Amino acid sequence: MNLSPKQIVNELNKHIIGQEEAKKAVAIALRNRYRRACLSQELRDEITPKNIIMKGPTGVGKTEIARRLAKLVKAPFVKVEATKYTEVGYVGKDVEGMVRDLVECSYRLVKDEKAEEVRVKATDAAEKKMVRILAELKKNDRGETAREVFEENLLNSLRKGVFDSTVIEADVREELKSMELMPGGAAINLGSIFGEMLPPKRKKRKLTVKEAMDLYIAEESEKLIDDDAVKDEALRRAENDGIIFIDEIDKIAGKESSGVDVSREGVQRDILPIVEGTTVMTKYGAVKTDYILFIAAGAFHVSRIEDLIPELQGRFPVSVELKSLTKEDFMQILTNTEHSLTQQYAVLLAVDHIDLKFTPDAIEAIAEISEEINLTSEDIGARRLHTVMEYLLEDISYNAGGGDDVTVPVEIDRAYVEEHLKNMTSDRNLKKYVL
Ligand SMILES: Nc1ncnc2c1ncn2[C@@H]1O[C@H](COP(=O)(O)OP(=O)(O)OP(=O)(O)O)[C@@H](O)[C@H]1O
Ligand SMILES: [Mg+2]
Repeated sequence: MNLSPKQIVNELNKHIIGQEEAKKAVAIALRNRYRRACLSQELRDEITPKNIIMKGPTGVGKTEIARRLAKLVKAPFVKVEATKYTEVGYVGKDVEGMVRDLVECSYRLVKDEKAEEVRVKATDAAEKKMVRILAELKKNDRGETAREVFEENLLNSLRKGVFDSTVIEADVREELKSMELMPGGAAINLGSIFGEMLPPKRKKRKLTVKEAMDLYIAEESEKLIDDDAVKDEALRRAENDGIIFIDEIDKIAGKESSGVDVSREGVQRDILPIVEGTTVMTKYGAVKTDYILFIAAGAFHVSRIEDLIPELQGRFPVSVELKSLTKEDFMQILTNTEHSLTQQYAVLLAVDHIDLKFTPDAIEAIAEISEEINLTSEDIGARRLHTVMEYLLEDISYNAGGGDDVTVPVEIDRAYVEEHLKNMTSDRNLKKYVL
């Protein structure tokens, strides 16, 4: 991961409008890990990540920032809801499950990378295997052709996809199902346990050449990859590059909850050692959690950050606040993000031959009305845009499709927006006076 903080923010800007402070904080935290990785072991051991706590109302981008970040940096990443651990039936120590999930994610990441590295070789081997099968299948077509030439021709046709839908009897490895044996979802792959003692079982299956090739390539790359090296690398990456996003942290802050819930403070105490640094056993080996980056997020409507136990608070030295979104932000979100809502609806409806366009003043009207509804009823942030857009385009969505294939242009302007959202706002306006 070699992105500078500014580059990270630039990437995040493609998806998240505003919230500069939060974007900056996560970008710096990430870069610091890269910086740390460049130091001597001795110094590295001293430097722990500056965990971040994000505070802000619902629907303003907390989860979205974390989600985009993970995609961007290709670091092992998991997201957990703190509230999960307060549920009935939750058994004490299972907060460690988040670390196990992280290692699992790391393992998959490394495995995919290695598979990419050996892909050419694996494809080569798989093609050889397939050509033998095809040569047997097509032996009557061979005639006087020399064997090498015949096989060369088959290989070329195979690569061109000529045989993609040809059905063959393929000899493939039988996958053993992984099973959830431990509470908290620590899946144990029986195949990987017994696989080391027993030779993998094989069976014949009728598959198309294309399907069989995918399986053969996977098998061949499996042979070329040193699984122990993958495990070691997976552990190393989880420890040094891992990010755990703890959502809804505010829900475990504050005084004891009533009823059947597990005590909130108890959950904080369970999480604490993991954030402070401990060693967790996973099926790939032991993982130290000291250098994992933790990002916690919560709305903190009812509780405050100060309501977290001091030890835990102290482990989140960086706190950033996300702001409520305004009409201007909404306009940006609607039009200026990658795969924005307006683009999404346009491509969806294009399938049914509708060429959907929004005039600038329509966008303004949608933003205005969304802000108004957020102010007068509940503020659900950018999620409001989803409900408003769905409502606005209901008629068009419903009437589209089933006709002939002529493209119909539809332009949404301010008048259309106001007319169609009239009910939405007037209801809310009434509510304003009732409340
Ligand atoms: N600043 C923003 N820019 C662009 N899109 C946003 C922004 N904030 C929120 N959204 C969109 O709104 C939706 C909800 O956002 P998100 O899940 O990040 O909310 P949140 O802050 O985590 O809220 P909650 O506290 O309810 O979990 C997502 O679809 C996201 O794309
Ligand atoms: Mg969220």
